[in-house]
Amino acid sequence: MAGHDSILTFAKSRYLWIALALTGASLAAYLWHDPGGLPNGGTWLGYTLGTIGALLIVWLMLFGVRKRKYLDSAGTLRGWLSAHVYLGTSLILIVLLHAGFQVGWNLHTFAFVLMLIVIFSGFFGLYAYLRYPTLMTRNRESATRDAMLEEVADIDQNALALADGIDPKIHAVVLRSIQNTKLGGGVWSQLRARDGSDIAITSLIAAMEERRKRGTDAGGQTATIFAMVDFLASNANDKQTEALRKLIDMITRKKGLASKVARDMQYQAVMEIWLYFHVPISFALLAALIGHIVSSFFYW
Ligand code: HEM
Ligand code: HEM
Repeated sequence: MAGHDSILTFAKSRYLWIALALTGASLAAYLWHDPGGLPNGGTWLGYTLGTIGALLIVWLMLFGVRKRKYLDSAGTLRGWLSAHVYLGTSLILIVLLHAGFQVGWNLHTFAFVLMLIVIFSGFFGLYAYLRYPTLMTRNRESATRDAMLEEVADIDQNALALADGIDPKIHAVVLRSIQNTKLGGGVWSQLRARDGSDIAITSLIAAMEERRKRGTDAGGQTATIFAMVDFLASNANDKQTEALRKLIDMITRKKGLASKVARDMQYQAVMEIWLYFHVPISFALLAALIGHIVSSFFYW
């Protein structure tokens, strides 16, 4: 399987060189060109660079279509993404050269700003992409995540049943911790995924402590979890204490699972959320670009 940097170094960084050649040639033409006035989008070079820019934008947007068609051939997709990233970035210079670095508060600059937002959200996405390698891993991880979620639900059921047998107050505490655990939902709620087991664990340990104080005569002794374990070992036949200990074990195990799932979800939500900027704003960019092209022909 290809390494982490396979997007950036795809085919010996072919697209990096293509992008450098394109921007290099644009820059050379810009420096060589004598616009007979201020360089701007209305000269022949301005039109040429503008057209290159517009074609690049349309091509970059086709990546969404490509992505859906070739979801199962990750290799081809990596090549496209590599080209996407380098040529997408080269747009910054190409468009600045197109405009002769004249940017004011107008529709043209609006299109340019939208383009920058798309590009910089793309940088964020690229960063995420490099940290979270392939689509395949993504699927595998979501399979183990489903399994973990099922286990969490199982533990919840068992913990509730067990707590019910101990004390209504304990039951309420466990229930509250379950309600405070929020996993799943849409991207926005996944971003706020969390595990609420700590409340229960704290209360259960306090309840244990209570029982320990009542059961032994060791008032004043600091209650560490180790002291508690010692105590439990010597009172193995105390049914309620035994049940409490089992409950703590259960919820501790759940905490491990649920925190991991919550972290995964937040991480993946962050990975997806940039696309909520990248894609819609690229459509806004396309609209603004059409406006820019049409208006520049009318007011020429
Ligand atoms: C076929 C494609 C394009 C054509 C025909 C075109 C045409 C023009 C023209 C005629 C101007 C000069 C307008 C003036 O000086 O008032 C201009 C300026 C400009 N264009 Fe384009 N353009 C194209 C693509 C793009 C693209 C892709 C972008 C970036 C998203 C862009 C952004 C700008 C900006 C920022 C200016 C400077 C506006 C100013 O003077 O404040 N253009 N364009
Ligand atoms: C104006 C320039 C750009 C446009 C119009 C554009 C547009 C798009 C579109 C339409 C997609 C498909 C997303 C989907 O359907 O899920 C996409 C994907 C992507 N873009 Fe861009 N993009 C641009 C520049 C960039 C840049 C400069 C970078 C990074 C440096 C970048 C990084 C990405 C990444 C990583 C994906 C893949 C998302 C995925 O497969 O989950 N884009 N882009």
